[in-house]
Amino acid sequence: MADDPGLFTREFVADPYPAYAYLREHAPVHRTTLPSGVEAWLVTRYADARQALADQRLSKNPRHSEQAWKQGKVGVPGEQRSGIGAHLLNLDPPDHTRLRRLVSKAFTPRRAEEFRPRVQELTDRLIDGFAAAGEADLIHDFAFPLPIYAVCDLLGVPEEDQADFRTWAGMMIRHGAGPRGGVARAVRHMQGYLKELIHRKRGDLGDDLISGLIRASDHGEHLTEDEAAAMAFILLFAGFETTVNLIGNGLLTLLTHPEARARLQDEPDLRVAAAIEELLRFDGPVELATWRFTTCDTPVGGVVIPAGEPVLVVLASADRDPRRFADADTLDLARSDNPHLAFGHGIHYCIGAPLARLEGQIAVTTLLRRLPDLELAEPAAELRWRGGLIMRGLQRLPVRFTPS
Ligand code: HEM
Repeated sequence: MADDPGLFTREFVADPYPAYAYLREHAPVHRTTLPSGVEAWLVTRYADARQALADQRLSKNPRHSEQAWKQGKVGVPGEQRSGIGAHLLNLDPPDHTRLRRLVSKAFTPRRAEEFRPRVQELTDRLIDGFAAAGEADLIHDFAFPLPIYAVCDLLGVPEEDQADFRTWAGMMIRHGAGPRGGVARAVRHMQGYLKELIHRKRGDLGDDLISGLIRASDHGEHLTEDEAAAMAFILLFAGFETTVNLIGNGLLTLLTHPEARARLQDEPDLRVAAAIEELLRFDGPVELATWRFTTCDTPVGGVVIPAGEPVLVVLASADRDPRRFADADTLDLARSDNPHLAFGHGIHYCIGAPLARLEGQIAVTTLLRRLPDLELAEPAAELRWRGGLIMRGLQRLPVRFTPS
């Protein structure tokens, strides 16, 4: 077996791509010890990653791996015990199929598209908050609040309660640098709040997504209150830090690639959809797809992974695989053949992708239009990344610009 190419060091967290290139060449399906002590397999080539994401022998239920489950080191801290863990990202068919069908009836691409004016309004309001200052931290002031307010609005969380979500989201996003206890506490707060909100809405349905989840039915079947709470929770949880990172990583990429950025600024409408796809491929928000566990001895990329082992599909590596992408390490905002895996693949493919794309497009184009001379206020090499395992995102993104 090949040597471990310095995984999970500080240098790796800042720039994991050289280590992934090494693994793709020398050990494409690689067993390693994660910082938590869990032994897991990393799948780093595009073709293997795509196959593994669609392989039903790889379960999402952590109970399939005794070592990981007993140590409580997989999934969102606190979610299993609280009952809110019975959501799409921990379930296999047939439970997954039933819940996914119900949520798909409420959370349609059309619902996301109808939300466009609201996302534009939120974006402009956040920029108004710092435009006169001439400087900002684009994570704290922009990328962090936008998705949390957007998903809260979509779900129908009343505006006066959204500040609580901002606090809980802050407890979750600091997870990479801080204790898991804070995340478990935030999960408990969210669960309590969502259950009560669902209960309240049941008697007074509106046109928000939570009302849609309560209403959704399939062959006469509805979500129970607990299932609706777990669903609302996973929509918030999965739709939050991912989108923060799309905006944060995407803006950093543009600020460090002036030619690409200039093209986008000159022809924004023409390029923005393709540009967002390329930003997702080039430095995506989710580094490793969420956990999978082998239910039986399972061949992946020529290696037989024994039953009961945790597997992590490295989306960030698959999307830089030169076997699939021409000039894979080059940013090309006009790339047309771009079947990246940033939103996953198969039955767990991201249900929030239309909303995430919309938020990314509006956030990036509006910021570049309103603050055209935006530039980094610190050298890119000195920026710090949050050290979480699944996500890849910046702690801060300090910028300056002409006040407006
Ligand atoms: C699933 C990425 C935004 C809700 C996933 C998966 C990925 C992903 C990779 C599959 C995980 C796996 O197979 O293990 C992203 C990225 C986003 C984003 C990169 C932003 C740029 C959102 C948003 C929402 C959302 C905005 C909702 C409002 C979900 C849900 C699942 C999911 C509920 C689970 C689907 C299932 O298991 O059937 N996402 N996501 N995501 N995402 Fe997203």
